[in-house]
Amino acid sequence: MTAHPRADIAVLTDDPVRNHPTRGEQLDILTSLAAAWSKDGDAVLDLGVGVGYVARMLLEKRPGVRLVGVDLKPESLAKARETLAPLSPGITLVEGDLGAIEKLSVPAGPYACIFTVLTFHDLTDAAKKRVIQWVAQRLAPGGVFLLMDRLRLDQPALFPLQVALWDRMNRVYGGSMRRAETYGAYVADLDKTNTPARLADYMAWFAEAGLSADTVHRHGNIAILAAAKPA
Ligand SMILES: C[S@@+](CC[C@H](N)C(=O)[O-])C[C@H]1O[C@@H](n2cnc3c(N)ncnc32)[C@H](O)[C@@H]1O
Repeated sequence: MTAHPRADIAVLTDDPVRNHPTRGEQLDILTSLAAAWSKDGDAVLDLGVGVGYVARMLLEKRPGVRLVGVDLKPESLAKARETLAPLSPGITLVEGDLGAIEKLSVPAGPYACIFTVLTFHDLTDAAKKRVIQWVAQRLAPGGVFLLMDRLRLDQPALFPLQVALWDRMNRVYGGSMRRAETYGAYVADLDKTNTPARLADYMAWFAEAGLSADTVHRHGNIAILAAAKPA
């Protein structure tokens, strides 16, 4: 048997999020979709920009967008500024709490694309729903929201399949991510900084916000969801 020639696509040496071997490929997918959806001059918003790692991937693909990034942590925003400013003159970084979205002040947009990566699981479900409503109001007609995050697994009978996916990740990539061996242990690991939402809840919140949504990529419990505003 020979190694899969693309098995190393996910190896990104300076990724601030560790122990997540399929993240690189999923980020490449998400930023390819965001780049395809936007054109030069469009405003694009990253909710939970962190140190700017995902935003950098987007700017490498589409340097002409006006990127706005929001994060809770000023020290992360300072690093994001260092990383992103040389890539594009039109960067705006805003310190703010997605948990209090009504107080968040960002350039008005409208945004051709709003995206968020591995951040929604830090919010309560009520806050997630409020952010989705806020996003829907700030998207341009025909704009898209891309959400990549862990989903809450809610089918105990299927949990062994997720364990098998983590085991496969170990075999293919030599490492896996935050995991559990049983559904009970998985549920016990859900706490206030790890509150992924169910896929069905996301779809209901998108519909309530007037967005047309679908899952565009999924590797086990990590999904990329897309939700478009009518043109
Ligand atoms: C796991 S990091 C992901 C960062 C980046 N999106 C990435 O994938 O590289 C989660 C980010 O969300 C930010 N964050 C968490 N809760 C937040 C909140 N309530 N408001 C704004 N940012 C938040 C954290 O500060 C952190 O930068």
